[in-house]
Amino acid sequence: MLARITVLLSGRGSNLAALLAAIDAGGIDGSVTHVVSNRPEAPGLRIAHAAGIATAVVDQRAHAGAGTFDAALGAAVSQGEPDLVVLAGFMRVLAEGFVSAHEGRLLNIHPSLLPLYPGLHTHRRALAAGVRVHGCTVHFVTPEVDAGPIVAQGAVPVLPDDDEGRLAARVLAVEHRLLPMTVGWFCRGDVALEAGRVRFRFSGETETGPSMALISPAPPRTEAPLSRSIPR
Ligand code: GRF
Repeated sequence: MLARITVLLSGRGSNLAALLAAIDAGGIDGSVTHVVSNRPEAPGLRIAHAAGIATAVVDQRAHAGAGTFDAALGAAVSQGEPDLVVLAGFMRVLAEGFVSAHEGRLLNIHPSLLPLYPGLHTHRRALAAGVRVHGCTVHFVTPEVDAGPIVAQGAVPVLPDDDEGRLAARVLAVEHRLLPMTVGWFCRGDVALEAGRVRFRFSGETETGPSMALISPAPPRTEAPLSRSIPR
């Protein structure tokens, strides 16, 4: 049975587009049935409209001060009867009640290697810290922001002449692979949250080994590989 997916977004929607492309390519046993935004002007809503997906807007400004936003968001998401809710650039902290109502069925993509740089301006903070490796994380959502159990991470090198824009673009390209991949796993039952921990149930072999390492900066090609002389 196809999993019903609801995507929550606040902005551009490039991760939604990546998810829809993967679904179109047959890589995910699921379908995005609903897209919900807290911002009526979010460009991601246009991507949903173009794909014929039902949309809802719960405008946070309309609910400001009334304390009714969380209930309205909960109602809008319930409309989709989702098996999975994906936060793809949803720039609003979710109420604890919402998170517990969707426990184990709520994934977020965050543009850093958590637990480094939760919150905003992750690329700027990575550059300021001088890290050589940066990336993105897909995790199950818990009430504490950007702190839930990690499903998967993608890493990129930070290059010497990077600025925020270049680094963000390099990370975003990985987000567009990581999010569809993890959503695909969830829909196939290859990953689940059990007693607060991430459990994988892959049936085949997965690729591992030293060749998967990302070393940054990469040593110059002229340098002899050190590992050849080290017995394993
Ligand atoms: C992404 O970088 C995502 O990791 C973060 O917000 C951004 C959303 O981008 N949470 P888009 O709207 O999917 O293009």
